[in-house]
Amino acid sequence: MGLFDDILHNDESLFINEQALDYDYVPKKIPHRENQQHYIADVIKPLFQKKSGRNLFIFGAPGIGKTVAIKHVLRELEEKTEEIITVYVNCWKKDTSYKILIDICGQLNYKWVHNKRTDELMKIVSEIINKKSVVVVLDEVDRVKDLDILYNFSEDFYKKCILMIANDHDWIVNLDSRIKSRLNSDVLEFKAYNYDETLDILKHRAGYAFVPDSVEREVLELVASKAFDNGDVRTGIFLLRESGNIAEMKASRKISVEHCEKAIEKMDSSFKIKKVEDFGDEERKILDLIKENSGLTIKELFGLYPGSVSYRTFHRKLEELDKNKMISLGEMREKSKIVNYNKKLSEF
Ligand SMILES: Nc1ncnc2c1ncn2[C@@H]1O[C@H](COP(=O)(O)OP(=O)(O)OP(=O)(O)O)[C@@H](O)[C@H]1O
Ligand SMILES: [Mg+2]
Repeated sequence: MGLFDDILHNDESLFINEQALDYDYVPKKIPHRENQQHYIADVIKPLFQKKSGRNLFIFGAPGIGKTVAIKHVLRELEEKTEEIITVYVNCWKKDTSYKILIDICGQLNYKWVHNKRTDELMKIVSEIINKKSVVVVLDEVDRVKDLDILYNFSEDFYKKCILMIANDHDWIVNLDSRIKSRLNSDVLEFKAYNYDETLDILKHRAGYAFVPDSVEREVLELVASKAFDNGDVRTGIFLLRESGNIAEMKASRKISVEHCEKAIEKMDSSFKIKKVEDFGDEERKILDLIKENSGLTIKELFGLYPGSVSYRTFHRKLEELDKNKMISLGEMREKSKIVNYNKKLSEF
């Protein structure tokens, strides 16, 4: 090979489909989640016989394919029939009954939502939905502040499957017993992938994204081991994209270990979800306090905190911990938010 044969020209790219490395991309196949997808399909199947389906609560650590597996099932269902309406809401952003219903109205193409109250919206949504049957997915359901919406869905929708996703099993355990018995949902755990599964998933993603044979085997292994260590496939997807960008910047036709190592450096300084070790002493002390006193309000915790920070700083640190999913800031009690410790996440 000549000295310059392996140079990428400026009209060429290593990527054939960069979107395949978007976090919300849904690939044609979701390897290593076949059993879970069958389980989900089974709770939906009665809807095909015009009966009601079962409800299902899905839980598992972040970045292990819960959302992508569900979205894939919905896609297949949409391709199969028009008799079953599918609704998907991410409750991280839509965390009240009102916001959830507005979102659903949008998905149902109902536009006259202006000036309508929550109960009016609920009535409209039920009328549309009850003409057919429905699969409703409430992703990140642990973020929902007023859970009456779950009660309403189970009462007002006739032929339905309510699928709820959260990180922590405790969410369903601690649910108001009135709602819990109404929902009567099955529970499905998504367990973490092992190293080989992580490698295989990332190999597939790289296959969709890059020109064939441009990613060295060692790069895939390095990326997979990082993702496996973090227990989060997102880490691997992030590293694939960054490694690709770095290789392209260097006009290389191959993505090498050297490029990948640069990407890892970048990730360590910028990856958005921090781990406990990445926080300072003050935050870790606060986290310990919350661990011991989960369920108290911000004000109550501040009263117990022996450190010497101002209330504002304390509040800001809680928001930072919340953003990184270490804790959840929930409903208000006596004008202060209730703080819950996210066991799995803080310790994974
Ligand atoms: N089996 C798989 N096949 C292909 N891609 C996968 C698979 N599992 C996970 N991914 C990808 O990894 C990333 C994280 O997965 P996903 O968003 O489904 O995680 P999650 O379990 O819903 O996490 P969170 O609890 O943080 O919402 C996504 O980009 C997803 O496409
Ligand atoms: Mg998700």
